[in-house]
Amino acid sequence: MAKPGNMGHSGFLRYPNDCMRIIINIFVGVVIGFFIGVSFPTANMPKLHLAGSITTCIEDKNSAFATQALLNHTWPSIHSHNGNNSTVHYNDTSKIYVPKNPRGAERLPPNIIVSKSDLYPRRLWGNPSEDFQIQQKYLVTFTVGYDQKNNIDAAVKKFSENFTIMLFHYDGRTSEWDEFEWSKRAIHVSARKQTKWWFAKRFLHPDIVDSYEFIFIWDEDLGVEHFDAEEYIKLVKKHGLEISQPGLQPSKDLTWLMTMRREGSEVHKETKEKHGRCSDPHLPPCAAFVEIMATVFSRDAWRCAWHMIQNDLVHGWGLDFALRRCVEGAHERIGVVDSQWIVHQGIPTLGNQGQKQNGKQPWKGVQDRCRKEWKMFQDRMADAEKAYISKRW
Ligand SMILES: *[C@@H]1O[C@H](CO)[C@@H](O)[C@H](O)[C@H]1NC(C)=O
Ligand SMILES: *[C@@H]1O[C@H](CO)[C@@H](O)[C@H](O)[C@H]1NC(C)=O
Ligand SMILES: *[C@@H]1O[C@H](CO)[C@@H](O)[C@H](O)[C@H]1NC(C)=O
Ligand SMILES: *[C@@H]1O[C@H](CO)[C@@H](O)[C@H](O)[C@H]1NC(C)=O
Ligand SMILES: *[C@@H]1O[C@H](CO)[C@@H](O)[C@H](O)[C@H]1NC(C)=O
Repeated sequence: MAKPGNMGHSGFLRYPNDCMRIIINIFVGVVIGFFIGVSFPTANMPKLHLAGSITTCIEDKNSAFATQALLNHTWPSIHSHNGNNSTVHYNDTSKIYVPKNPRGAERLPPNIIVSKSDLYPRRLWGNPSEDFQIQQKYLVTFTVGYDQKNNIDAAVKKFSENFTIMLFHYDGRTSEWDEFEWSKRAIHVSARKQTKWWFAKRFLHPDIVDSYEFIFIWDEDLGVEHFDAEEYIKLVKKHGLEISQPGLQPSKDLTWLMTMRREGSEVHKETKEKHGRCSDPHLPPCAAFVEIMATVFSRDAWRCAWHMIQNDLVHGWGLDFALRRCVEGAHERIGVVDSQWIVHQGIPTLGNQGQKQNGKQPWKGVQDRCRKEWKMFQDRMADAEKAYISKRW
């Protein structure tokens, strides 16, 4: 569940003068608050803090009297903006019904609808059009526990100022990260013992991350000594990769040959696997395939992949085999970048956060669930395709 500091009222009072901080906390607090409200109705936690926090911010600084004056000042000008004619406009709104609007918003005039958003923090003052010094074009998320802080610190430094940094915390520790300067401009989302795909489904809705050309959804145990994100993007664009990952340093623990780094190559899109593993040279795991530990999506590919992520399948096993469904001509547009490569350190992290059950070790329970999810996902995909095709033909 969410870190209480982000949720509770005291979390806001701790930084009465730091409105930037507050607005980030509001964002996270509201979203998490909403989710917790929906999922754990009995949890004894405050839900929506937005109104309360804004009032707190104003009252701390200006007193209730000043709030009154502010209202007195702005109300007449809003009210008389259209003067006499506003009444006429108001009556007309009963006639507005636009079926083509997003579902639920049919009664709004289309020009007022903003169906997409972004993750850029804004200022609480000044001209809104001047809020951003730089609008980042790429997003990178890491799902982290504080124990991996040094690894994440090293990884974040490989991403330039053109990247929005977003941390998904599974251990409830968020404020500790402020020892790193970059943490203060990062977006922090906290929910205990949740996985990367759980967070991605809930906090990376395609309409929210639409301003990013590429989205990196990464694990926390990757060694990035030979990786540079800007260079990586250049190669992905050059080779037209919609879904990709950096090559993995060869090691005996590698599961799939496709994701192994090839020396002297920029990018590869296919491989020869062990005998019998590939039914077709254009299909996974011989082509159209990357793993889910360090996946990079284009905006369009993510728009599709997000829809495929199942709410109850949190480990994402089997997703890698299905990603190709999101890309036309997948064997040419899914690939591995060899010249920017990483090391999969394979540190057991979230896997150790399971629960001891029936005398089984926690990691065993997690592994069993991973396998079970994979099977469920395969079955659902097969059923869905069968249902569609039999209806169509
Ligand atoms: C706001 O307006 C009301 C009525 O118009 C007035 O009584 C009140 O004193 C005003 N408050 C301030 C702070 O100007
Ligand atoms: C009000 O409506 C009249 C007639 O429709 C128009 O001439 C006038 O400019 C409008 N005034 C404002 C403030 O919109
Ligand atoms: C509002 O408009 C009507 C006619 O359109 C006019 O007679 C009236 O004086 C206007 N009132 C104000 C406050 O402008
Ligand atoms: C607008 O609404 C007012 C009160 O609700 C009503 O008196 C008036 O006749 C309406 N005007 C039009 C043009 O529908
Ligand atoms: C960030 O993006 C801008 C615009 O594309 C580019 O000029 C700049 O070199 C990038 N920064 C880095 C560190 O690559």
